[in-house]
Amino acid sequence: MRSKKRALRVLHVCSEIFPYLKTGGLADVTGALPPALAKMGCDVRMLVPGFPDFVNPIQNKHLVAELPPRFGAHALRLYYGTLPQTGLSAYYIDAPGLYDRPGNPYIDIYGQSYGDNHRRFALLGWMAARLVEGFDFFWRPQIMHGHDWHAGLAFAYLQVLQRAKGEKLAGSVFTIHNMAYQGNFPGHVFGELDLPDDLFNPEGMEFYGQVSFLKTGLSYADKVTTVSPTYAREIHGGEQSCGLGGVVQRRDPDVVGILNGIDTQVWNPSTDDTLATTYNARSINGKKQCRLALQQEMGLRSQNTAPLFCVVSRFASQKGLNLVLGVMNMLLEKGAQIVIVGNGEHHLERAFSDYAHHHPQQVAVRIGYDEALAHRVIAGSDVIMVPSRYEPCGLTQFYGLRYGTLPLVHRVGGLADSVTDTTPENLMDKTATGFIFDHFDISAMEDAVNRAFALFSQPREWRVVQRQGMKQQLGWKHSASEYKKLYDEIRV
Ligand code: ADP
Ligand code: GLC
Repeated sequence: MRSKKRALRVLHVCSEIFPYLKTGGLADVTGALPPALAKMGCDVRMLVPGFPDFVNPIQNKHLVAELPPRFGAHALRLYYGTLPQTGLSAYYIDAPGLYDRPGNPYIDIYGQSYGDNHRRFALLGWMAARLVEGFDFFWRPQIMHGHDWHAGLAFAYLQVLQRAKGEKLAGSVFTIHNMAYQGNFPGHVFGELDLPDDLFNPEGMEFYGQVSFLKTGLSYADKVTTVSPTYAREIHGGEQSCGLGGVVQRRDPDVVGILNGIDTQVWNPSTDDTLATTYNARSINGKKQCRLALQQEMGLRSQNTAPLFCVVSRFASQKGLNLVLGVMNMLLEKGAQIVIVGNGEHHLERAFSDYAHHHPQQVAVRIGYDEALAHRVIAGSDVIMVPSRYEPCGLTQFYGLRYGTLPLVHRVGGLADSVTDTTPENLMDKTATGFIFDHFDISAMEDAVNRAFALFSQPREWRVVQRQGMKQQLGWKHSASEYKKLYDEIRV
């Protein structure tokens, strides 16, 4: 056992952590990667905004510092405590005026971004730099690791701090989970960020006259990671780079793709207590019961002759659900059943709900966000469709693999890196785990659907592919060691 003294001190800066606060896969990652790093011997702490979803569960709270008003926060304190599920230590910024609001971390109850988001998340970054500076006398991070645009400004504050001190104080890593969410704000807010003017230029924080939080992280972090090797290549240019391809190219030697893992305790069909019954790769029969239970729960006809397809997803254009709509009639004609869980763009909510209304025995739709239901749906289905237009990593295809639910995916980003197509060769050498289509169009997806039906009609072959997926090592161990290697390259 390595002594705590020598353990590398790593601060993760983020705005979501599963199971406390989650709007997407980011939370799954920040809920599982830091504990995996801790298991490997790192001394990991989290820094989060004081959203009630964090403040309420955090235990053993201690005041670290009380500060004068800043960024629009009148009462401003930094606390330290323990996250109960993992026992990890966390700092939270207690600023109720900024963080204690109805709605989610970024938008109000009407779906509008909060008008002061630039200040709410500037404060998160500013506080990260203060911790690097030694704000907590007892613990100073050697690595500052920020996630997504919410943490982007941390890298500017760190840059300014290191410039003032004339030395490097911490290694810094910025993980981009999605290039499309950039945290861009009108240029005039720059004056509210408490940063020197020279940072507001196209080599730094400026993106066509706007302040870009994502670009700030991309510009100033020692290392930039993204959540799959393929996505790391894709963001060098074209549509996927969302206008930042030039910056990515400039930072190319420091840009690394590390494929996400999943929390194999949360997602484990052999222990999952949300399911009708548990099962595993050796004894997969329980999955049939899960399927039957799902059909009953959803009011679908009980049958086991045609495959049950599912989607568990945000309804956003990224997710390619227009292709699912495009293959719906074909699926119905072939006798498939379809279960769809998600929410987001209203036209998709309406279109899927219409199908459920007209085909109640074959299609079920649940509009909303329901973690336990997501488990039951994935366990009870035969195929999970993830036809994303782009996908930095994607997690539901992993959950599908783990639950013996074959992923049907577009060959892009992390989907390309995590699913092996059922080509005749891959079937023969037992490496196939799902169905992949190359072109982002309906006919390509139809072709993959046809192949899914063909395989389903050969139960023995189907089972081989299921088992192959269930056997994959999907935990965080490997990826966490990749992050650790990166930390070792840049540690102070
Ligand atoms: P993204 O973060 O782009 O939405 P990911 O695939 O990385 O995509 O992560 C999505 C996460 O959110 C997964 O854990 C998935 O199970 C979950 N999820 C998405 N929609 C829902 C929903 N409606 N109900 C429950 N969980 C959902
Ligand atoms: C983002 C991406 C998704 C990825 C997740 C976790 O939300 O859209 O592809 O899996 O972050 O890294």
